[in-house]
Amino acid sequence: MSKPTPTHSITAAITAVGGYVPPDKLTNADLEKMVDTQDEWIRTRTGIHERRILKGAGLGTSDLLVPAILDLCKKRKIDPSEIDCVIVATITPDYPFPSTANVLCEKIGAKNAWGFDLAGACSGFLYGLTTGASLIESGRYKKVIVAGADKMSSIIDYKDRNTCIIFGDGGGAVLLEPNDEGYGVLDSILKSDGSGRKYLHTHAGGSVHPTTEETVRNRQHYVYQEGAAVFKHAIKGMAEAVVELLDKTKLTSDQIQWLVPHQANIRIIEGTAERAGIPSERVMLNIHKYGNTTAGTLPLCLWDYESKIKKGDHLILAAFGGGFTWGATLVKWGS
Ligand code: COA
Repeated sequence: MSKPTPTHSITAAITAVGGYVPPDKLTNADLEKMVDTQDEWIRTRTGIHERRILKGAGLGTSDLLVPAILDLCKKRKIDPSEIDCVIVATITPDYPFPSTANVLCEKIGAKNAWGFDLAGACSGFLYGLTTGASLIESGRYKKVIVAGADKMSSIIDYKDRNTCIIFGDGGGAVLLEPNDEGYGVLDSILKSDGSGRKYLHTHAGGSVHPTTEETVRNRQHYVYQEGAAVFKHAIKGMAEAVVELLDKTKLTSDQIQWLVPHQANIRIIEGTAERAGIPSERVMLNIHKYGNTTAGTLPLCLWDYESKIKKGDHLILAAFGGGFTWGATLVKWGS
C-alpha cells in the first residue's frame, strides 16, 4: 500500500475574489416613507446610508452569486468546469431543497463540482472558509469556491423599523487553491451558542413551526430581532474572538494589516476594532453602501478592498450572527 501523501504543508490560499450587488437601491429616504424612522437616526445608530435590493420575479440568492463567481473565474482565467466544490453560506436559500449550491453549479456551468449550503447566519462565510480550507488541506480538492450571499429582502418585514433599516441583498465568493508557501487560511476561532436564538431568529417555516395560514397572518416568517441584546453580544463576541486569535497565533495587532469585520453596525465595527487595537484606516468598511447582507458582508468587503490588499498581508476576518454564531479567521493574502 502506498503511503498517504503528507498534507501538513498544504494551506488553502485565496487566489481570486468576486462580488455582486444588485443595482436597485433602497435609501434611508425611501425607508422614511415606509416606516416611522429618520435618515439621521439610521446613519448615527447604524452607519447605513443605503442598501441594495434584488428585484425581479423568480430571482433568488443563487442569482446574486452567478455574476460574483463568473467574475472570479474570469479574473483567475479558469473555466467553471474546473471547480471541484462550491460551498454556499446563506440563510435565504433559493428553495428549502435542493440546495442553492446545487442550483448555482448548474447556472454557472460548474458541471464537475459538488456542493452544499451552510447555514451559519452572519458567520456563515467564516464557517465556510474553514470548511473549504479543510477540503483543500486534505489534498483531495484543488479548487473550492466559498461563497456567502443573502437575499435578506425575502425575509424582512418592511413594516418593522427595528429590522428593515439594517439589511440588504448581496454576496461574494473566493476561490481556494492549494499553496505550499504558507499563504491562505491559517487559523480560526469559531464559536456557537444556540441559547442566543431567542434574540434573533425567524420563528416559522422550519420543521418546528411549519408554514400555516396562521404563521403567515402573524408575520412569523420574517426576521425577529432584539437589537440591543444582539448589539451587546456582538461587540463582546467579535472582539474576544479577535483577541483570542491574536493570542493563539502569537501575532500582535501591529502585524494585522486588515481587520475585515462583519458589517452589522458601524458602532459594533468601531467597538471591535478598538478592543482589538486596530486603527480605523486598517478596518474594511462598506456598511454605508450595502447595509448588512448577512453571509455576504465579508466577501463583499474583500471584493471592495481587493486592490488595496498586498501579497503577504495578514487579514483577520471576524463575524457575529444569529444563533448565536461567531468567530475570527486569520488569512495571509496570497494573490
Ligand atoms: N428609527 C427610529 N427610531 C428607532 C428605530 C428606527 N428605525 N428603531 C428603533 N428605534 C427607537 C426604538 O423604538 C427606541 O425608542 P424608545 O427609546 O422610545 O423605546 C430607540 O430607538 C432606541 O432603540 P434601541 O433598540 O435601544 O436602539 P439601538 O441603539 O440599540 O439601535 C439597532 C438599534 C438595531 C440599530 C442596534 O441595536 C443594532 O445594530 N443591533 C445589532 C444588530 C445586528 O447586528 N444584527 C445582525 C446580526 S449581527
